[in-house]
Amino acid sequence: MENQVKEASGKLGILIPGLGAVATTLIAGVAAINKGLSLPIGSVSQLSRIRLGKRTEDRNPLIKDFVPLAKLEDIVFGGWDVYEDNVYVAASKAKVLEQGQLDQVKDVLENIKPMKAVFDKNFVKNLDGTHIKSETTRRELADAARKDIRDFKEQNGLDRVVIVWCGSTERYIETNDAFSTVAKLEEALDNDDKRIPPSMIYCYAALMEGVPYVNGAPNLTCDVPAIEELAQTNGVAIAGKDFKTGQTLMKTIVAPGLQARALGVEGWFSTNILGNRDGLVLDDPENFKTKEVSKLSVLEEILDAKKNPELYGDLYHKVRINYYPPHGDNKESWDNIDIFGWMGYKMQIKINFLCRDSILAAPVALDLALFIDLAQRAGMSGIQEWLSFYLKSPQTAPGLPPEHDIFKQLMKLQNTLRHMMGEDLITHLGLDYYQELVDSIQ
Ligand SMILES: NC(=O)c1ccc[n+]([C@@H]2O[C@H](COP(=O)([O-])OP(=O)(O)OC[C@H]3O[C@@H](n4cnc5c(N)ncnc54)[C@H](O)[C@@H]3O)[C@@H](O)[C@H]2O)c1
Repeated sequence: MENQVKEASGKLGILIPGLGAVATTLIAGVAAINKGLSLPIGSVSQLSRIRLGKRTEDRNPLIKDFVPLAKLEDIVFGGWDVYEDNVYVAASKAKVLEQGQLDQVKDVLENIKPMKAVFDKNFVKNLDGTHIKSETTRRELADAARKDIRDFKEQNGLDRVVIVWCGSTERYIETNDAFSTVAKLEEALDNDDKRIPPSMIYCYAALMEGVPYVNGAPNLTCDVPAIEELAQTNGVAIAGKDFKTGQTLMKTIVAPGLQARALGVEGWFSTNILGNRDGLVLDDPENFKTKEVSKLSVLEEILDAKKNPELYGDLYHKVRINYYPPHGDNKESWDNIDIFGWMGYKMQIKINFLCRDSILAAPVALDLALFIDLAQRAGMSGIQEWLSFYLKSPQTAPGLPPEHDIFKQLMKLQNTLRHMMGEDLITHLGLDYYQELVDSIQ
């Protein structure tokens, strides 16, 4: 496969529907890094190393030096939003980064102005932006989004483009007949079927333009047969859904540890407060439902009650999100975990995470953009399950249960990179060379 991975030549465009807290923090961070003012902390693609070969070989390059990723200075950002603020103004309003830091990259940020959004208030009740496209039918909107992508590529002299959805969480919807095949989705677009959410229109436009699509929210978007089929037919990579940050990140770190030691879990209560625009949108029960479903799936899969009913059969799992403006983007979460050990004796774990939502999400969005661009250049189309590492509710092939354990997800990500570059996969068995090593020291 090594020879098939095309070089990352030229510029990479990252188009973002939703230039809010996550997107502006990402863009400002990349600008600061490019000016030598900051480091890409939290970005596995930029700062993590990957072991190659046997432990004895001591080969541990940075991932960015091992696989041909786009360079940060070759990235051009653009996007859409329902508010017309440029990225400097939007970042100032989001209040994630300090104003002094934003001012240092003001020249870059104020030049990025959102294109008019594909928007339907029926999917996000708590937003009232007016910077929206005048086209009215779903088909016209899809055509307009396609034109935006083509224009952005041409105007910026880009080699490639990827799209990363950082827009608000849409209200909960389930799949339906219109999303079952490409032909039916096309028909639904022609008929202006109002069941098609804006996020799916962006995604459809991307795939029709040969542009990979990452879904950073828990929206249904690309997790339907029609979009999966389109991605395959057009040879385009997709990944989703919902950036794994904050509380769920903690869950997928702690739960595999408890499960690995065969400790029982009878209750896991998670609650959190946040006061950013994301919190405002999630204050609507229909939008919260989308997030809740995404968050709940994690524990059920890791602690698989069917395989170990004696340990997890009675698990009670509850997730709450509360909108609390004074905290802004600084989300605070509490987890109360009721566990039991030898002879059924009960214990408790309490986690109180004072996190910064967008600080955790920005490097995740960056890595997903860089890796999905790599996948596309490696000729990998359809669902990119190896990117599950970054996602709360990983999209998988139909019928395949998702892997939520972050350590297995990391192994899968690293082995995929080794596979791409023609390196041996690492199983951590080591028996093949262990005795050799012991003999050589004696
Ligand atoms: N911050 C995190 O840690 C995190 C983690 C996982 C997922 N997410 C998800 O990422 C998304 C972004 O989070 P955020 O904190 O930046 O939210 P935000 O509210 O600050 O930004 C979202 C932006 O999307 C815009 N928008 C909404 N609908 C749009 C549309 N149809 N087209 C274009 N723009 C649209 C809004 O106007 C807003 O500016 C949310 O869906 C959130 O649930 C965030």
